[in-house]
Amino acid sequence: MSNQISTLRQEFTARLDAVTSVTELEEIRVEYLGKKGSVTGLLKSMKDLSAEEKKTFGQEVNVLKNEVTDAIAKKTEALRQEELEREIQAMPEFDVSAPPVLDRGSFHPITLVQRECEEIFKSMGFVVEDYSEIVTDYECFEALNIPKHHPARDMQDTYYLTNGQLLKSHTSAAQNAIYKKYSKALFEEGKPIRAIFPGRCFRNEATDACHENTFFQMEGVMVDKNISISNLIFFMKNMLSEVFKRDVKVRLRPGFFPFVEPGFELDISCAICGGDGCPSCKNSGWLELCPCGMIHPEVLKAGGIDPEEYTGFAFGLGLTRLAMMKYGIKDIRDLNSGSLKCMSQFTEDK
Ligand code: DAH
Repeated sequence: MSNQISTLRQEFTARLDAVTSVTELEEIRVEYLGKKGSVTGLLKSMKDLSAEEKKTFGQEVNVLKNEVTDAIAKKTEALRQEELEREIQAMPEFDVSAPPVLDRGSFHPITLVQRECEEIFKSMGFVVEDYSEIVTDYECFEALNIPKHHPARDMQDTYYLTNGQLLKSHTSAAQNAIYKKYSKALFEEGKPIRAIFPGRCFRNEATDACHENTFFQMEGVMVDKNISISNLIFFMKNMLSEVFKRDVKVRLRPGFFPFVEPGFELDISCAICGGDGCPSCKNSGWLELCPCGMIHPEVLKAGGIDPEEYTGFAFGLGLTRLAMMKYGIKDIRDLNSGSLKCMSQFTEDK
């Protein structure tokens, strides 16, 4: 009996030494410890032994069983470690200083539209100005003929800083600074003021498919002697036809803005539904794209320009809305989503 045990032990040790994989090891485990395995067989064979023999033989078999179990566990661990080492060795070397391999990025649709508009206006003699996103109450409202407590402020509720400054609710907030910057050349050299100033704007808005708390506008002003509404219409229609690469359908409606007189809403027929009505255009078939008007005398005065001598027009183009129209984007919120899946559709080589 004891012979049987030592033969099995020797045989097992030799087999175990020869094992090179976890799979092979599992086969051996079944062969020795499985229901029909050799060690299990030894235990089963005890039923024919005497009580005395059972005791000693049983103990020896149990010692063998524990040895086999431990040896298999140790070998499993060793083999796993070896396999891991092999995998690590096989892995390509990783160079942490190598530049990331990413897909080529793309411009945001608003950037694309903004750049396109800038080129068009530049070709018409306009300069492009940048302006701060944080402005004073004076710039955003007072200088634009919107005194404190004026109801027009309601529509432009924005985010206020603790120092009394605010995040600009419209690009018109730069008008005053533009007049002051360019009026010298107007007075002394007779150079008309022609400037556009794109920018990010903020409002305290409940968001939906066509409203966002953060959006882009592009303001434009032209001031000279004898500027009229015809000049305004000419510039706007030319610009929009260039942007949409077709003769766009527009309509002018009267609109009230304290900083222009007369003021208009310039609408463009909705490119998403073709004018039939859809959620993006609030089912009207038209999209409010560009409020505009003749600059209010008080606004010119605040900018240091005599309204008796000079007149001008101003417009506030909704760049965000323009991008939606041009690219058929149905929900304004997609533009600020940061979703590459959504935005990378607009990749253009520019
Ligand atoms: N600043 C206005 C707004 O965001 C838009 C606007 C209206 C701008 C008329 C203009 C204008 O220059 O003439 O609601």
